[in-house]
Parts: sequence; structure tokens; C-alpha cells
Amino acid sequence: MNPLDTDNTTEPSTVKVWDWPVRVFHWTLAASVLSAFFTGENEDFERLHQTLGWVAAGLMGFRVVWGLVGTRYARFAEFVRSPAQVWAYIKSLRSGQPQHFVGHNPVGAVAVILLMGLTALSVYTGWLVLAEDAAEWMEESHEIAAHALIAVVLVHVIGVLWSSRAHGENLLKAMLTGRKAAPSEAGIHHNWGVLGLAMLLAVAWYMFVELRG
Ligand code: HEM
Ligand code: HEM
Repeated sequence: MNPLDTDNTTEPSTVKVWDWPVRVFHWTLAASVLSAFFTGENEDFERLHQTLGWVAAGLMGFRVVWGLVGTRYARFAEFVRSPAQVWAYIKSLRSGQPQHFVGHNPVGAVAVILLMGLTALSVYTGWLVLAEDAAEWMEESHEIAAHALIAVVLVHVIGVLWSSRAHGENLLKAMLTGRKAAPSEAGIHHNWGVLGLAMLLAVAWYMFVELRG
């Protein structure tokens, strides 16, 4: 056997796609939204529930700014696409030769936008419920927004697993390590690790201050 043949079997090289702030945003948002969902109905956890809700709010505020000034694949301009592009992607899936994207694919991006929108709506309606004279419809709208959000989360997770199979890449691992197999010129150049660490510390500090005592 020609020893050079083994070169063809080496793993494709990976590049950095998701910077630290995107990954810290994702996993702290996922943790806070899921925990908020499971603490909402229990009065004993009222303070924890609201603190988690404000953490999600702060993360969303950060993500909107990062979507405008962040690294390449974090930007809205990179992943918000027209309905025609979403449809073209769906057609390519059906043809068995799906178009490949280094960042979010067009259908995944629709889920991402829904997740962000419904998180914001859950926070807004939660804030409405806090008013002393909160009307019945405000409580109901909070409940509906929160359940719609969790339904989209389920679709999102199924979509991530399905898409990982369709494209032969582990998207979950990529959201943890920040890396994907792609040509070197596709990678981002700055990881913004200090900003990611600052976000983690800010969340931990805020939760500590709100929940102590
Ligand atoms: C700052 C943001 C938030 C505030 C101030 C807030 C506030 C509240 C309040 C006061 C309640 C009790 C309502 C009642 O007495 O019927 C509640 C319930 C609930 N909240 Fe939130 N919330 C926030 C964010 C969230 C988020 C992000 C979720 C995410 C999924 C969520 C899910 C729920 C659920 C499932 C309930 C129970 C609804 C029911 O069955 O009555 N909340 N929230
Ligand atoms: C717990 C199971 C979850 C897993 C395994 C998961 C996995 C992922 C993965 C792999 C991506 C990148 C998708 C891509 O490559 O295009 C992603 C993006 C995203 N996920 Fe999740 N996710 C989970 C839960 C959640 C929850 C609970 C939320 C809450 C709202 C959420 C919100 C988002 C958002 C907003 C993005 C876009 C990230 C960005 O561009 O900054 N995810 N998720």
C-alpha cells in the first residue's frame, strides 16, 4: 500500500466559526430559559424564576448588539435570509444534495430568529404580569409565549440532530468547541474570549446578588 494514501483519510481541518460570546450566550440562554420554564408555576421559586427571566433578557440584549457588530457568523446580515433562499434550501434538501453553509443554514436560521423573538416575548409578557393590576390576558399571554418558546426549542433540538446527520457534521459539538470543518479562509479571526468570560461573570454576579439572603 502506498503510505501516502493514508493522507486522504485524515480528518478535514477545522476552523473557528462560533466565537466565545456566541457560545456563552447560547448555553446560558438555554439553561436560563429551560430553568425559567420549570420554575414558572411554583410560587416558592418566584424570585429565582424572575431572576432567570432577567438573565435571559440581558443575554438577548447583548445578542442583538453582537448580531450587528460581532464576528462573521454571529451577524444577522450573515444568517437572516429571504423566503426565496429558505425555499431554495428546502428544495436542495429534497434533491438529496443539500446546499452547505458554514454558519446557520437557512431553515436553522428561521428557528434561531423564532427562538430569539419568543424569548423576548416571554420576557415582555412576564414583565406585564408583574404589574399590580395585571389582567388575566397578561398572565395567559405569558403562559402562551413560554409554551410556544419551549415548543420551538424542541423543534430546534430535533432540527440540530437531523441537520447534523444530513450534513455529516456534529453541530452540537460545534456549538461547544466553536469549530467546524471548513476551508481555512472561512474561519473567524478573533475569538473574543475575554468578552465571553465577562458575560459568564456578569450572569453569575447578577444571580448571586439577586438570590443571596
Ligand atoms: C423577566 C422575565 C420574566 C418575568 C418577570 C416572569 C414573571 C412571571 C410571573 C410573575 C409568573 C406567575 C404568573 C401567575 O401568577 O400566573 C410567571 C409564570 C410563568 N413563567 Fe415567567 N417570567 C419571566 C420570564 C419567563 C421566561 C423566559 C419563561 C420561559 C419559558 C417563563 C415561563 C413561565 C411559565 C411556564 C409560567 C407559568 C405559567 C402558568 O402556567 O401560569 N417566564 N412568570
Ligand atoms: C438543550 C439543548 C440544545 C441544543 C443541543 C442546542 C443546540 C444548538 C446548536 C447546535 C446551535 C447551532 C445551530 C447551527 O449550527 O446552525 C444552536 C443555536 C441556537 N440555539 Fe440552541 N440548543 C439547545 C437548546 C436551546 C434553547 C433552550 C434555546 C433557548 C432559547 C436555544 C437557542 C438557540 C439560539 C438563539 C441559537 C442561535 C445562536 C446564535 O446565533 O447566537 N437553544 N443551538
